Amino acid sequence: MKHGKRVGIVGAGNVGATVAYSLAMQGACHEIVLRDNKIDVARGKALDMSQAASAVRSHTVVTVAEDISDLKNCDVVVITAGSPRLPGMSRDDLLMINAKITKEVIVGVAKYSPDAIIIMVSNPLDAMTYVALKESGFDRSRVIGMAGILDSSRMASFIQEKLGYGGGQIRASVMGGHGDDMVPLARYSTVAGVPLTDVLSDDQIDEIVDRTRHGGAEIVAHLKTGSAYYAPAKSTAIMVDAILKDTKQIHPCAVLLEGEYGYDDVVCGVPVMLGANGAEKIIEVTLDEGEKEMFAGSCSSVQTLIDTLHKNKFFEGDK
Ligand code: LAC
Repeated sequence: MKHGKRVGIVGAGNVGATVAYSLAMQGACHEIVLRDNKIDVARGKALDMSQAASAVRSHTVVTVAEDISDLKNCDVVVITAGSPRLPGMSRDDLLMINAKITKEVIVGVAKYSPDAIIIMVSNPLDAMTYVALKESGFDRSRVIGMAGILDSSRMASFIQEKLGYGGGQIRASVMGGHGDDMVPLARYSTVAGVPLTDVLSDDQIDEIVDRTRHGGAEIVAHLKTGSAYYAPAKSTAIMVDAILKDTKQIHPCAVLLEGEYGYDDVVCGVPVMLGANGAEKIIEVTLDEGEKEMFAGSCSSVQTLIDTLHKNKFFEGDK
């Protein structure tokens, strides 16, 4: 029997488990179903989180999908499965390994949760979102990649660090793909409504832009055996929550472009309105020439990954 909102999470590693924990603490849904090949790890984490939910009087229960077929009738499915990014490894190195994992998982998700909205978290993010779209056959509004909220949060925290004030009042904006050529938009970033360009010098902004672009790698260099997970997980939970609550809030997310910004059949990060039907609307913001050039560079990096998948005859139609 289905009682209420059900969220599936594929991959119970650091990111997947932290998404589950965040949602369970909020009581964001009735049930969270964890799926991981390391089934005992999933079982242990599910029990631990259900007990934590009881501690805070949250009604959410965390269960385990012993098999992909147990991941049924989910409203939202978060995909974090994949090989993690290790030191010295670019997000792109992960391409072929994670594309295969994504394909296998998505075929199961589409079969057992045909009405779900899929949130992709695995890297390289934009290319994996593209794979999930093609392999699920879902409408583009129901396959959304998480990156823009994370990258914008990183930029906001670097702005706060540089300024020494404004915490909680900073809105940073990052568009483009989740790669080293992502597009941090200083012009659309504010501190309590004051344009960033009024409170920081060009050099200071350049430093923040550069640090944002390498924000993931900075953490990998410290952790050494893995990558960031608190901010990636919280950013994902924000998207799940917006969808479950049908908030219609605007967040930067990776979606398939079909003419927007002049691009077609490529996934890239843009502001989208999230609601019960997923990415319900794509917002087209005005970009100046420099920003357009950066966005073009970012789209072209994602396109190169998609082309590599085609060259390796990854998709059905390539054979
Ligand atoms: C990050 C990597 C994992 O941004 O993509 O943290």
